Amino acid sequence: MFRNFIAWQFKKPTGLFGNFSSRVMIRGNSHRYSTLIKDMDIESGDKILEIGYGPGIGIQMITRLCLTCKVYGIDFSKLMFKKASSYNKPAIDQSKVQLFFGDYLKMPIDQNQYDKIFCLNVIYFWDELSKPLHKTHALLKSGGVFHIFMASANFLNEKKAPDTVFNKYSIEQVVDALTAAGFTQVEHYFNKGYYIKAKK
Ligand SMILES: C[S@@+](CC[C@H](N)C(=O)[O-])C[C@H]1O[C@@H](n2cnc3c(N)ncnc32)[C@H](O)[C@@H]1O
Repeated sequence: MFRNFIAWQFKKPTGLFGNFSSRVMIRGNSHRYSTLIKDMDIESGDKILEIGYGPGIGIQMITRLCLTCKVYGIDFSKLMFKKASSYNKPAIDQSKVQLFFGDYLKMPIDQNQYDKIFCLNVIYFWDELSKPLHKTHALLKSGGVFHIFMASANFLNEKKAPDTVFNKYSIEQVVDALTAAGFTQVEHYFNKGYYIKAKK
């Protein structure tokens, strides 16, 4: 019961415990963001979307790296929307960042919008992969790339992440679902978690 409650603070952080999970995410995920963002080969003028930005540190890293990029993000936690908005306020004021509060699964599809889309520690919370991956494919421009980081099922089991909240997808399941959604050149490597790259 308590474990489920804590797990929910990573799926959709709220209130005091959400502040705690936010601090854990900032501490634990900075190096993963650095690796994933390096892999993205960001180019000047890129239009980029992050799904599930949490406290917003990944978005801040990108705006520091690329002054001409436009970065968008969507997250369905009101608390994370507030934190990420405050964390990225200067870039939001300069119209370099636009953050949305809402459910990615319900976000309207605007075709061929983004050069890059990424998400870190989010796909466990999708109960099936087909809809979100087809949506991501549609949102990307032709030649656009989707980057994912996900922990392995072993790691999640070691951390006692409950199956009731976390869908512990295998790398094969994710690669197959990306291919079925129309992505080509699906590549991945393992470095304390899976870094996956899929091209439209
Ligand atoms: C485990 S946290 C990861 C946050 C951040 N990416 C990081 O790694 O530090 C998952 C985040 O995804 C968001 N999220 C999960 N499912 C979502 C959905 N369907 N639509 C929008 N945001 C979602 C949650 O609110 C939460 O902020």
